[in-house]
Amino acid sequence: MMLRRSLARLSPLLSNAALRLNPISSSSRSFCSSSSSSSQTLSPTTSSSSSSKLDNDHAESSADSSPSVAISIDRSGLCNPPEHAHEPSSDSELVKHLKSIIKFRGGPISVAEYMEEVLTNPKSGFYINRDVFGTSGDFITSPEVSQMFGEMIGVWVMCLWEQMGQPPSVNLVELGPGRGTLMSDLLRGSSQFKNFTKSLHIHLVECSPVLQKIQYEKLKCTDESVDEETGAKSAVSAVTSTPVSWHASLDQVPSGSPTIIIAHEFFDALPIYQFQKGARGWSEKMVDVSEDSKFRFVLSPGPTPALLYLARRSQWAPREEVAKLEQIEVCPSAMDLTRKIAKRIDSDGGAALIIDYGKDGLVSDSLQAIRKHKFVHILDDPGSADLSAYVDFASIRHSAQEISENVAVHGPITQSQLLGSLGINFRVEKLLQNCTEEQAENLRTGYWRLVGDGEAPFWEGPDEQTPIGMGTRYLAMAIVNKKQGVPVAFQ
Ligand SMILES: C[S@@+](CC[C@H](N)C(=O)[O-])C[C@H]1O[C@@H](n2cnc3c(N)ncnc32)[C@H](O)[C@@H]1O
Repeated sequence: MMLRRSLARLSPLLSNAALRLNPISSSSRSFCSSSSSSSQTLSPTTSSSSSSKLDNDHAESSADSSPSVAISIDRSGLCNPPEHAHEPSSDSELVKHLKSIIKFRGGPISVAEYMEEVLTNPKSGFYINRDVFGTSGDFITSPEVSQMFGEMIGVWVMCLWEQMGQPPSVNLVELGPGRGTLMSDLLRGSSQFKNFTKSLHIHLVECSPVLQKIQYEKLKCTDESVDEETGAKSAVSAVTSTPVSWHASLDQVPSGSPTIIIAHEFFDALPIYQFQKGARGWSEKMVDVSEDSKFRFVLSPGPTPALLYLARRSQWAPREEVAKLEQIEVCPSAMDLTRKIAKRIDSDGGAALIIDYGKDGLVSDSLQAIRKHKFVHILDDPGSADLSAYVDFASIRHSAQEISENVAVHGPITQSQLLGSLGINFRVEKLLQNCTEEQAENLRTGYWRLVGDGEAPFWEGPDEQTPIGMGTRYLAMAIVNKKQGVPVAFQ
């Protein structure tokens, strides 16, 4: 009875959701509970899926991107905070580290340096020592929402492999694989296509040792070995007998074979610079320590070298677009990484699929912090909350196009369009034919989260648990070697 009601409520969605297109809204990662935005204060300075896996036709058997310009800050107009003989002992290791950088440099640091330290500091960065995903973590991502996400990305990768002429050896790279759920669902979903899975060597680019271990387990890896020269870890995934290797950056992934790169919610974690317009032109927004030993934002009193990034990014934007903005964010790491991706695709053949929340144009002021599924202040207890920013898809397009004429950029299209074109409607219908009531409920809400737009209209549960659709907030872009033609979903 319950199942029938669920199916009846789902059926109109199956035909509509993939077509619903709205402009991007201002929220970001998906939340399990309601969340509230916090205002950011600026001092003008004088100084998986929770549901169990369902299978029918897919049987269960079956940044390195550091800026290229070094930053040194002109601090002549900044007032240095007084030294504190007794730092509050309650400060975390990361907070002490950030304060010591600011103290010894004699002034504020860029937002990009703050973001990089907070997320990936090798000792105490947000991602480094724990599993931050899912209902018990800080946020939930599409692969964790439903197995269908990884399965559909698998369809995209297989179609591309066909377009590439079924090469016998392919590097399948995932940047920032989180818990490894996307790759696990991709392999399980494609496991019947032996020629495809036999061609794969998986390369996971992951900075977190804890997440590497979770990925190892998720992919049911065995035969672990460590390369004595490079220190890179390798193993074999029992899902499809596929070799898997781990790397700290894309540079370490061997080149020379056709390459398919997946980056889901990776670019939004790359460090951004923030700039603010004032009476005397653009200033850089920076992070400083106040007299009461608290982090605070300050504005550089004059130009900083990072303004070069703003100038570089602005070249690709119409003058009117820049003129109407009071704040602009620039992500040089994303531009550098894109150039590396495009170079590799040019020389080795293949493609990259980038999925993230963002905008096809200049991004103004999007940096946000999320802890335990709630927005918090960006400077609040750094290292305990995720930081992420809108991805500037236009800058990715320009960066890739600058590299080679052999590389084409397609999109961005919405996640809803991407998954709709790859057949998610058929997949959810198939899964619904053979599942428990609870699984049907999870499928219905998972489907909505992936392709819906805004609050689920069919929801009858508690308001604070209303599923929010990510279908139009998340965008997908493909960078392809022109030899491969236009990839599926982008035609
Ligand atoms: C927002 S999570 C996305 C995880 C996964 N793609 C998903 O959708 O569930 C970002 C991932 O990128 C990794 N990461 C972030 N910055 C990185 C960097 N600079 N180098 C390598 N991995 C990084 C994190 O550890 C994490 O696995």
